[in-house]
Amino acid sequence: MKVKAMGALRCAIVMGLCTWMGVAAAQQGNARPWSDATVSADARARLLVAQMTQDEKFQLIRSYYAGPDRPSDKPFPKGAIASAGYVPPIERLGIPALEESDAGLGVASSDRMRPGDSATPLPAGPVTAASWDPKVAYRGGAMIGGEAHNKGFNVLLAGGINLMRDPRNGRNFEYAGEDPLLAGTIVAEAIRGIESQHVISTIKHFALNDQETARNTINVQIGEKAMRESDLLAFEIAIERGKPGSVMCSYNKVNGDWACENDYLMNQLLKRDWKYPGFVMSDWGGAHSAAKAVNAGLDQESAGEVFDKEVYFDAPLRQALAKGEVKQARIDDMVQRILRSMFAAGVFEHPAKKAPIDSKANLAVARETLEAGAVLLRNDNNLLPLDFAKLESVAVIGAHADKGVLAGGGSSLVTAMGGNAVPGLAPTTWPGPVMYHPYPPLKAIRTMAPKANVQYANGNDVAAAAALAAKSQVAVVFVQKWSAESVDAPDLALPDGQDALVAAVAKANPRTIVVLENNAPVQLPWLDQVGAVLEVWYPGGDAGNGIANLLSGKVNPSGHLPMSWVRDASQLPRAEIPGVMGGTPPESVDYNIDGADVGYRWLQSRGLKPLFPFGYGLSYTTFEHGPLKVATRDGQLHASVTVRNTGSRAGADVAQVYVQVPGAKARRLAGYAKVSLKPGEQRELDIPLEKRLLADFDPARHGWVIRGGDYSVVEGRSSEDLGTPVSVKVPAGAP
Ligand code: BGC
Repeated sequence: MKVKAMGALRCAIVMGLCTWMGVAAAQQGNARPWSDATVSADARARLLVAQMTQDEKFQLIRSYYAGPDRPSDKPFPKGAIASAGYVPPIERLGIPALEESDAGLGVASSDRMRPGDSATPLPAGPVTAASWDPKVAYRGGAMIGGEAHNKGFNVLLAGGINLMRDPRNGRNFEYAGEDPLLAGTIVAEAIRGIESQHVISTIKHFALNDQETARNTINVQIGEKAMRESDLLAFEIAIERGKPGSVMCSYNKVNGDWACENDYLMNQLLKRDWKYPGFVMSDWGGAHSAAKAVNAGLDQESAGEVFDKEVYFDAPLRQALAKGEVKQARIDDMVQRILRSMFAAGVFEHPAKKAPIDSKANLAVARETLEAGAVLLRNDNNLLPLDFAKLESVAVIGAHADKGVLAGGGSSLVTAMGGNAVPGLAPTTWPGPVMYHPYPPLKAIRTMAPKANVQYANGNDVAAAAALAAKSQVAVVFVQKWSAESVDAPDLALPDGQDALVAAVAKANPRTIVVLENNAPVQLPWLDQVGAVLEVWYPGGDAGNGIANLLSGKVNPSGHLPMSWVRDASQLPRAEIPGVMGGTPPESVDYNIDGADVGYRWLQSRGLKPLFPFGYGLSYTTFEHGPLKVATRDGQLHASVTVRNTGSRAGADVAQVYVQVPGAKARRLAGYAKVSLKPGEQRELDIPLEKRLLADFDPARHGWVIRGGDYSVVEGRSSEDLGTPVSVKVPAGAP
């Protein structure tokens, strides 16, 4: 029995004893024994649950929608900050309200919610993932968590980790790419950063909500082995390392059951196998029942009065309880889990309240995230970096680069200070508005190149843009593809004739640099005609300066793709997304096609060569890697490799270690490390290899199994740019 100090009182983590001791403490004069922060979160929650009435318990297991766009017959919840969700406080017991805000790229504050409010937008999730730097993810998480706290929120609906199975998925910009280890480790750090600010982080969308088309109805079909080794492995790693206080179950069905009433996902996997102690909340409109959902593991119904058919976690649940379909112990468990996460994050001791925000420091965090994660895709003849001090003329073209940078749409949309730089673009209503953050690259480039004549063409007139490029020493063309929650892209093309624009500009001036602002890979038909391409996704706060720093070499690009860049849709497991253009949506989607082989593993197993492989990214300096050594230490495989900066600029590189298990057609990323090196510097990196990537999930044995045999371990700068493999004998066993 684990016993922890609790002031004068000692409390065992056994419900009955704690309850008894709580009562005893109350009798001794400590009316709120759960307020002792030296006691474990579990024990405190148990003390508190024991004091609650049934109505108080029911109050905690549902949230209200706190958006001002509520139906008129549903009054705005008193005391709530306008946002995604609200659980009223229980003052009698000192339980604070839960004030829930979206999302992973900052405190969402679209005009729909809180007109006039603003927050610092982080770059899109793939930027953070492309940094391959857990510290960057942690800092970003702490920044947005801090802003949430200082705006009065104690729950961030942040921690998006759905794997990128399709570049057309409208929400890729909220996630962390296609690889379970990279996504899991990066999102874990973002979560830890958020929770470090006494804000509960909500990993989502659990699970397999990997497309937006028909997201509220679609049944994802996938075998257990395949899902455990892919999407669910990403969740498993992020949850065990990041310890988020809550998990949001998703809209879709998984193998026939709604994710929010899926016993396999919530009970068997999350709570039993992973021993997750926190709570599961439904996505907004994701709950479909009372007894079934509760018995399958759903702990809190979100905004049901607006988004669900009815509020299941009120009268219907009370009736189910009365009929014996749900046990009182389960209701207590739901409440226990919610309170436990509140205690664990420090929500009681550190109440979220309005406080000043250091926007300058926070913008620097956003910009540094971009600088660490932007990916240089092409740099023909070392066109970049540009010596701005010497340039006499620069053409800046397209994508409203004179006003700002594009953001992704939907619930995660953050309004930056200064508002929408390009208001009025369609769609202006959900999932719009289309928003440009007011950090114009044009201004930053002008500042960087004070002697140059820097002119702008909006790109609508292709001939005028080409003429400007022809008379300039270099042309920087910005291209964009807006994307949003609730919709997928029908194709991989850049919209609005931008391909023709780039081709014309490149023809007029081969010293053309393309900067991509997009959700996920798009086709680049003009690639061979341009000098350089820089991928910045939706680049977030202070992006104009970040982009100028990267183009000028003030910052050396070091991002590596967290996803494969396919050549076209024929390389994808599903050539199209049925229903993407409307019409009757399909009932199901078959993820057994790619199964566990998401992204580069799919491509490798089919012998397909992408345009840019997973893990790819260029630098302004050069690196050498090797030799690779592999050894077992403390029961774990470790790779070690020396990385040398062989060029003349400081820079950072990523050592990526892939493992091929016997009989597999594809390699798997099993470890990685990023290192910053001065010119001529070298460092030996020790990279532990994640055991579950050496293993297979065996449904029959209900666990991970290392088959054993000769494993090929290889290290490199991308999933295709690899050194000499090392063969390692791995004994069979359980990881
Ligand atoms: C989204 C969630 C979001 C919630 C609350 C839903 O539509 O899928 O990601 O947290 O709304 O705004």
